[in-house]
Amino acid sequence: MGRRWALLALALCALVRGQDWVATPGQVNPLVTMEQLLWVSGKHMGEVATYRIPLIAATPNGTLLAFAEARKGSPADSGPKFIALRRSLDRGATWTPTSFIVDDRGSPPDGLNLGAVVVDEETGAAFVLYTLCAHYRRCDVASTMIIRSRDEGETWSLPRNLSEEIGTIMFAPGPGYGIQKRFPPARGRLVVCGHGTLELDGISCLLSDDHGETWRFGGALRGLPYGQPKQFRDFNPDECQPYELSDGSLVINARNQNFYRCACRIVARSWDGGETLPPEAVTFDPELVDPAVAAGALATSGLVFFSNPAHESKRQNLTLRWSFTGGASWWQHPLRVWEGPSGYSCLAALGTGPGHPPSLFLLYEKGRSQPEESISLAKISIPGTL
Ligand SMILES: *[C@@H]1O[C@H](CO)[C@@H](O)[C@H](O)[C@H]1NC(C)=O
Ligand SMILES: *[C@@H]1O[C@H](CO)[C@@H](O)[C@H](O)[C@H]1NC(C)=O
Ligand SMILES: *[C@@H]1O[C@H](CO)[C@@H](O)[C@H](O)[C@H]1NC(C)=O
Repeated sequence: MGRRWALLALALCALVRGQDWVATPGQVNPLVTMEQLLWVSGKHMGEVATYRIPLIAATPNGTLLAFAEARKGSPADSGPKFIALRRSLDRGATWTPTSFIVDDRGSPPDGLNLGAVVVDEETGAAFVLYTLCAHYRRCDVASTMIIRSRDEGETWSLPRNLSEEIGTIMFAPGPGYGIQKRFPPARGRLVVCGHGTLELDGISCLLSDDHGETWRFGGALRGLPYGQPKQFRDFNPDECQPYELSDGSLVINARNQNFYRCACRIVARSWDGGETLPPEAVTFDPELVDPAVAAGALATSGLVFFSNPAHESKRQNLTLRWSFTGGASWWQHPLRVWEGPSGYSCLAALGTGPGHPPSLFLLYEKGRSQPEESISLAKISIPGTL
């Protein structure tokens, strides 16, 4: 392909994705334009005790896929679960009824844990990765599992045991979404980051350079003291969300499990598409005050968004922040989405057409007295228009 054609193809691609709109501060004034509860805990929906761990992603054809752990009998992390899915074909206005796409019946009683969703923009395939036996409760081998959909999330493959190729080290993906590299190095690579446990805690990323056929571990950033149980103030990067900046570097925004230095986020960086996560690139972001939780982060249209319960010790005060500087600094007036109890969150963007800002979707744990009461979807207009 000639250079001119390559440029034209890139431009078309940018149009389809709505990437041509680049934000300037005067145009960014995020506003929640719609909000609805996708799941309510308490055996109201599908006899499920508790819905937790929200994941959301958009396919290249514009379908929104929302997932959660459906904890069958109790709110505990360990125990039998389904993976719940709802889809929207109309930009979040209406959602299909819940499908339970994975049932961990027959697995050890520790059950499954979500997980990450990753969409390959080039093939349109969507993948969900999850863990079996993440807590070693009445089981002693952890498995990383993967399912794939080639039809916008309507049907899913049987689970494949990725541990046969990557080993049985406990790897808990996300929770959040995995990314596909858009810029060199390693354009097209799928990157799913997560955390480990016990002697191999800290964060690491799974990489696929063949559209999700095969996977391997890239770099890792281990906790300190290495291989030992952690105490308050030890270095222990945990649940994490990657995003890519336009210079091709990866930023991994991680839960600071043991409050090393601050009640704030750990930020790791990779310049080689996740092959290494060098310790000299690790920073702490005092502006991103955090009670140790899974947070949302997303780069789109020259902006980086970040969502978490902005509080140093309690899961409450769900706040959306944005940055014009790739996350080096945050706009001084954030958007408070929910003052009350709120927990894990995940972000997705969906293009709205050439020259227009994408819509933002925030899926988060929300409640009146506990964050586990429901999982809510907020649709957010970036310029703040209806
Ligand atoms: C996405 O849309 C294109 C064009 O309409 C269509 O050809 C393709 O089959 C769709 N992909 C899926 C996975 O539905
Ligand atoms: C997955 O594969 C690993 C490695 O072969 C094995 O130890 C583990 O039992 C398998 N898990 C499941 C759920 O089949
Ligand atoms: C709650 O978040 C807002 C930003 O949304 C922040 O200004 C405020 O200090 C936070 N409140 C507490 C109690 O941390």
